[in-house]
Amino acid sequence: MIPVIRPVLGDEEARAAAEAVASGWIAQGPRVAEFEAAFANAIGTGDAVAVSSCTTALHLAMIAVGVRPGDEVIAPSMSFIATANAARYVGAQVVFADVDPQTLNITPATVEPLLTDRTRAVILVDQGGVPADLDAMRELCDPRGVTVVEDAACAAGSTYRGRPAGAGAALATFSFHPRKLLTTGEGGMVTTPDPAVAARLRRLREHGMDISAAARHADRRVLIEHYAELGYNYRMTDIQAAIGLVQLRRLPEIVRRRRQLAERYQRLLGRIPGLQMIRDPGYGTTNFQSFWVALPADFPVTRNGLLQLLADAGISARRGIMAAHLEPAYAGYGDGAQLAVTERLSSSSLILPLFHELTEDEQDRVVAVIAHAAGSVTRVREDAGSDLSCPGTEGVPG
Ligand SMILES: Cc1ncc(COP(=O)(O)O)c(C=O)c1O
Repeated sequence: MIPVIRPVLGDEEARAAAEAVASGWIAQGPRVAEFEAAFANAIGTGDAVAVSSCTTALHLAMIAVGVRPGDEVIAPSMSFIATANAARYVGAQVVFADVDPQTLNITPATVEPLLTDRTRAVILVDQGGVPADLDAMRELCDPRGVTVVEDAACAAGSTYRGRPAGAGAALATFSFHPRKLLTTGEGGMVTTPDPAVAARLRRLREHGMDISAAARHADRRVLIEHYAELGYNYRMTDIQAAIGLVQLRRLPEIVRRRRQLAERYQRLLGRIPGLQMIRDPGYGTTNFQSFWVALPADFPVTRNGLLQLLADAGISARRGIMAAHLEPAYAGYGDGAQLAVTERLSSSSLILPLFHELTEDEQDRVVAVIAHAAGSVTRVREDAGSDLSCPGTEGVPG
């Protein structure tokens, strides 16, 4: 079976995790601090605060922004459900904005009509690793006192206007789930240029305490901590951070390989008429965290039918990015008529296998199934001269 993703984990990660265990300190400690410093440096922002996931990172970002019950938070429906959930954790109303059909990201044009005097924040997602146009969104939101939180869950290794994605945000959140390029098993990070915000995030992730357990342990003096506000246990462990430090060093090489494979997909699948694919936006580069394709309306096989054909051929693909407003948890949220792009692309797209060790032969097998499924389109359009001949389509179950 060709998996949709396989994390790049080797001996170095195993050794780093073993060293953390052997050190006797496995909870949040010196390796988390080291990972935070290295991550902040890699992103090129002031500070990075490690947490247990991007979901918890987003929750803390909402608190740091001061989002309260009664506030509105504008977010894409077209995102993993955790994006919208974060606003609801703090009692806010989620208002769903539609996405641009090329980037799958919300834009000032889709957000502006939804702004009200109750809007407190916009969650701008770099969907599938495609950086969103942060400057344009900040231009709309900053003068209105609306904070833009960048959900860069998928975007470690992507760039925006020559800098790493997330670098220009007041708050950006990252995921280290194994579906992402840089993984720590589970894990997340919040980056911010503001040291006071970072200090508060560090308290919030650790029950609200003003002196961390690691700091008390490292000090010979007796230190008594205090709890100034309601906090959480959203800590990352030193075992995860040890793995993260190795992964962070590998990230440029992982991005390079993914971009090479993505370009090959684009070349091969570009022969299929009407097939839309993830691409770099004009202002940045994507890490191709999710290589999505969207089927044209006249594609002879349904999206789910194509997923089944791929599964029958031993290929694990996934449906495209979900639309949160169509899930029961969001019944009553979102107006389908105003989320037309989201609904169309969510139902017509799928995510293809793309990972560091994917071979060209494996990639050819994926392409062959899709080209074979598109075969009837070739017949319909033969008089238009399309050529879908693709190596290896023989023997593909169809
Ligand atoms: C856009 C986006 N936001 C948030 C999350 C949640 O990340 P985590 O699994 O680290 O909580 C994900 C996970 O896929 C995501 O894609």
